[in-house]
Amino acid sequence: MTMTKIGILGSGQVAKTLGNGFLKHKYNVMLGSGDVSKLAEWKEKGGIHAHTGTFDQAAKWGDIIVLAVKGLVAAEIIEMAGPQNMMRKTVIDVTNPIADLPPENGVLRFFTNFEESLMERLQTQFPEIHFVKSFSCVGSPFMVNPPFAQQPTMFICGNNEASKGQVVHILEQFGWGIADMGKVTAARAIEPLCMLWCIPGMLHNQWNHAFRLEKL
Ligand SMILES: NC(=O)c1ccc[n+]([C@@H]2O[C@H](COP(=O)([O-])OP(=O)(O)OC[C@H]3O[C@@H](n4cnc5c(N)ncnc54)[C@H](OP(=O)(O)O)[C@@H]3O)[C@@H](O)[C@H]2O)c1
Repeated sequence: MTMTKIGILGSGQVAKTLGNGFLKHKYNVMLGSGDVSKLAEWKEKGGIHAHTGTFDQAAKWGDIIVLAVKGLVAAEIIEMAGPQNMMRKTVIDVTNPIADLPPENGVLRFFTNFEESLMERLQTQFPEIHFVKSFSCVGSPFMVNPPFAQQPTMFICGNNEASKGQVVHILEQFGWGIADMGKVTAARAIEPLCMLWCIPGMLHNQWNHAFRLEKL
């Protein structure tokens, strides 16, 4: 069986953590960066299924793409990676629209507003890409098979049902319960969960939690 190829745009903590998660679950992974030398150690430790390249190479190579770059430059990096390389592909959007401003009373500042999320902006700018918001509402140490006593919930949204199906499959492998909140518009509600998740950390240095949706 051919292994699914995951192209990850990013070289930061999230890119490496998810890259390792995909390797653990037997995917082929390429991390893409503007400076590939940053990723030499990750590649070395990752073994034969771990690859590195430019943003453009990772976007072209992946069957599924993960967008794990700074929110402020997300659109710019999709342009660098070549939107044509991601046409009709699932792009797992992990980004949060965090502004370059200090938090206020432990609350992060966003450059978006409640009428327009970052993922909506990206979906409008790149209509041929199938964005699915995921992994944005938890810190990177808990993205892959988190060790909580009860299964936490990942909130996802996106316009393409088949792409959301691919993400649901990945999230199940990664140990998550899934709450599908519908179309891209729901990113207006999902992205701010990052603010909420970070408040205990900013105020009390507590970072060991995740959200869980209880239902009757
Ligand atoms: N950290 C977390 O726990 C966490 C959790 C949930 C969601 N997120 C979101 O996931 C995304 C990735 O987060 P991260 O913490 O792994 O990394 P990050 O520092 O937010 O982003 C690093 C990536 O952004 C690229 N980039 C391009 N221009 C940049 C610039 N001017 N300044 C900084 N980075 C630039 C870097 O490119 P090069 O490769 O060329 O250096 C690198 O690949 C962010 O949108 C973040 O909000 C993070």
